[in-house]
Amino acid sequence: MKILITGGCGFVGSNLAVLFKKHYTESEVYCLDNLSRRGSEINLQKVLAAGGQFVHGDVRVKTDFDRIPKVDIVIDAAAEPSVLAGKVPGELENLIDTNLNGTINTLYFAKKHQSAVIFLSTSRVYPYDSLAKAKLIVSQNRFNLSNDQQIQGISEKGISEDYPLNGLRSLYGATKLASEYFIQEFAHNFQIPSVINRCGVLSGPYQMGKIDQGVIVLWMAKHYWKGNLKYIGYGGLGQQARDVLHIRDLFELVQWQIQNLSLLKSQIFNVGGGLKNTISLAELTEFCSKITGNNIKIDSFDDNRPGDLPVYITDNSKITSFSNWYPKIDIEQTLNEIHEWFIKDEEKLKLILS
Ligand SMILES: NC(=O)c1ccc[n+]([C@@H]2O[C@H](COP(=O)([O-])OP(=O)(O)OC[C@H]3O[C@@H](n4cnc5c(N)ncnc54)[C@H](O)[C@@H]3O)[C@@H](O)[C@H]2O)c1
Repeated sequence: MKILITGGCGFVGSNLAVLFKKHYTESEVYCLDNLSRRGSEINLQKVLAAGGQFVHGDVRVKTDFDRIPKVDIVIDAAAEPSVLAGKVPGELENLIDTNLNGTINTLYFAKKHQSAVIFLSTSRVYPYDSLAKAKLIVSQNRFNLSNDQQIQGISEKGISEDYPLNGLRSLYGATKLASEYFIQEFAHNFQIPSVINRCGVLSGPYQMGKIDQGVIVLWMAKHYWKGNLKYIGYGGLGQQARDVLHIRDLFELVQWQIQNLSLLKSQIFNVGGGLKNTISLAELTEFCSKITGNNIKIDSFDDNRPGDLPVYITDNSKITSFSNWYPKIDIEQTLNEIHEWFIKDEEKLKLILS
């Protein structure tokens, strides 16, 4: 099996590359990355140590793909993944060029070689204005979704693929949704096997968490290196909640998808930790304090940030009924593994995460 992973030194890409090399030692794994995400150079060392091959390239540059041989599978994981991206001058071009034009360049490559495409999309394709109006129940320091909702595709189990797409979704979400449309068109017109995974929050080791992306690692890092944090919005109590999927659970799903690509035909799946793996910021604080032994100062800001959501939970029903896949790693284990990674790679990570 030959695989190209764009963004192969990012959190998702490097983890998948290392796991592919571990489970399929004969596989050839090419990681294309421009190393623009701080910390991706640290992940690059993990990829090389596992036997992956690095291509220093940019998905915005179509000819950079000419340096990669024909592969069976392309995993599109190169992105500017911050939902806040695009508002600062200069950032907008990079966001659109990387997330949309980069995916289109990836599709040209897949078309040329008839490679299958696995796309890492996002829950942020669902519009925030209607999601923010979902009926909530507050329990144990956390917002939950009520089962009594006005819109289709939302229940206490979370958001399903039937949730309506009309509305604003952020510039980031728009680039990912537009990419989905191109993937489906390329798949249909040029017979490229493909699958689209709309992921909720993903986490685990090798995630270079920062203020605008990678909240689970950010939270743990600020506890570990005794920094400061803020609860922003919704009364400033940290009740906003997300489901969290461990990266190895995602790998397990991607393996199944590769083995069953002929069944999938550019299907779209919501993929996440699900209701069982949902956690609020206040609960996350408790876990991080317990694991690190550190209590840190957390400020409160009452005002909501535009585009923020009180709660997002992935309803995995569709993918589970297709594949029998479901998340197996709970949040406590995810947090413990992140903590162990900090201890092991402390010196390098301190410069980036503290
Ligand atoms: N991490 C999450 O919680 C999450 C959730 C939903 C969806 N996703 C999606 O998963 C994918 C991977 O996200 P991630 O968390 O690994 O992000 P990441 O920032 O850790 O990794 C992205 C990688 O892409 C590289 N990159 C950026 N611009 C590039 C360019 N122009 N050319 C080549 N490489 C470039 C970066 O250097 C980085 O190594 C993204 O498509 C993201 O939208 C992530």
